Amino acid sequence: MPDPRDHLLSWLKDAHAAEEQAITMLSNLDRRIENYPELKARIEQHIDETRRQSARVEECLKSLGSDTSMLKAVGTKLMGLGQGISGIFTSDEIAKGVLACYTFEHMEIASYRMLVGAAKQAGEPEVQRVCEEILEEEKAMAKWLEDHLEDLTQKFLAREATEATAKH
Ligand SMILES: [Fe+2]
Repeated sequence: MPDPRDHLLSWLKDAHAAEEQAITMLSNLDRRIENYPELKARIEQHIDETRRQSARVEECLKSLGSDTSMLKAVGTKLMGLGQGISGIFTSDEIAKGVLACYTFEHMEIASYRMLVGAAKQAGEPEVQRVCEEILEEEKAMAKWLEDHLEDLTQKFLAREATEATAKH
């Protein structure tokens, strides 16, 4: 009979890979931001959160008896992909970067909601609690972006209209 723990384990591994990818994506964006101090500060806060999330998900996997020795290899592969994508800079890279972050956060929100359900079903209250806490951090980041998307876009367009360089 299929065991809900099998799905819980594989979804936790996916979540871990996503966090590693997020660290690369957010760090690349952070390095490029010069003129949006509020955005830069919030991105840096979330990089710290994301590093903790990755470690906490790894702990969950260990607590479930999973072999975590392959996690780094998968993470590195995804990171390479993230670097490749982030290496393409366009004139509207800040707008595209914020769009990518907003999209990514919502993917993570869905992923952790599913993990909360899976942990409940598998009878793993500690994993459930960790996923609920991470979910709140992802929701807070998505909410911040939601609240600032219009302003950031207006600021970006205003900078573009007045300056020839350094729109990021
Ligand atoms: Fe995350």
